Amino acid sequence: MFKHHVFLEKNSIVLLLAIIVTVLIGGLVEIIPLFKYETTIEKVEGMRPYTPLELAGYNIYIREGCYNCHSQQIRPLRDEVVRYGHYSLAAESMYDHPFQWGSKRTGPDLARVGGKYSDDWHVAHMINPRSVVPESIMPTYSFLMHREAATLDSHKHMKALRKLGVPYTDEMIEYALADVAAQAKGEPTYDTTGLASRYGDKVKARDFDGQPMIVSEMDALIAYLQVLGTMVDFSSTREIDPSTLDKMPAKVKAK
Ligand code: HEC
Repeated sequence: MFKHHVFLEKNSIVLLLAIIVTVLIGGLVEIIPLFKYETTIEKVEGMRPYTPLELAGYNIYIREGCYNCHSQQIRPLRDEVVRYGHYSLAAESMYDHPFQWGSKRTGPDLARVGGKYSDDWHVAHMINPRSVVPESIMPTYSFLMHREAATLDSHKHMKALRKLGVPYTDEMIEYALADVAAQAKGEPTYDTTGLASRYGDKVKARDFDGQPMIVSEMDALIAYLQVLGTMVDFSSTREIDPSTLDKMPAKVKAK
């Protein structure tokens, strides 16, 4: 064995080749398993693929570049957890292709913004952020109110995502258009039992933008924002002992 090693060490080209082969093997062993979700992402209950309306909202989020100013990734640090809620789990973004972790926070993290505000607040904020947050520097997105959400090709998006491992069923793809209508109008205008049977009872179905005659891009974007961070139920976890919060300065608590 050592005799061969002397040969290796005395022939730099051979040594180089041997190093390359060794590094390649090491690389493959480390990288290939990462292509399998199951080995890298711990399963959590409650995760489901986006409904077609939420998916349209997700696409608008990307188109408008919201990720340039907003992250969707709560780090496991105390200040972040106190401000935004439970730190983000890998599973929570496993159906996002591409993921929206972001790298810059000009505005706040949005990973758990779902349910934080009413739909009306979001509509007002998107139309003119200054109307609800006077010091805001966020751009206005009022045009989303007048543009119809592009949902005619939702089934194609879903099929593409299925190829990437998002578990859309044939039924979900077949009923994509019906589910868009049901979610954007809600009861009593539409029967939402089909939508609920496919995506679960927690799906929020209602007229998000207050314009019953049109399924606007605003409807889609707000449906998406309102589901962020709400799929996994964290009520049973106790990441932060509430009693310790009382000992914090009032200013921290208020945030
Ligand atoms: C130029 C940077 C910028 C861009 C682009 C931007 N935002 Fe914001 N956003 C902000 C800032 C700053 C705030 C904090 C002030 C406020 O609430 O308006 C904010 C706040 C928010 C909030 C409230 C968050 C909270 O927890 O209070 C939401 C929701 C939001 N943005 C959504 C969006 C969406 C959706 C888009 C894309 C359509 C977007 N933003 C694009 C800068 C931006």
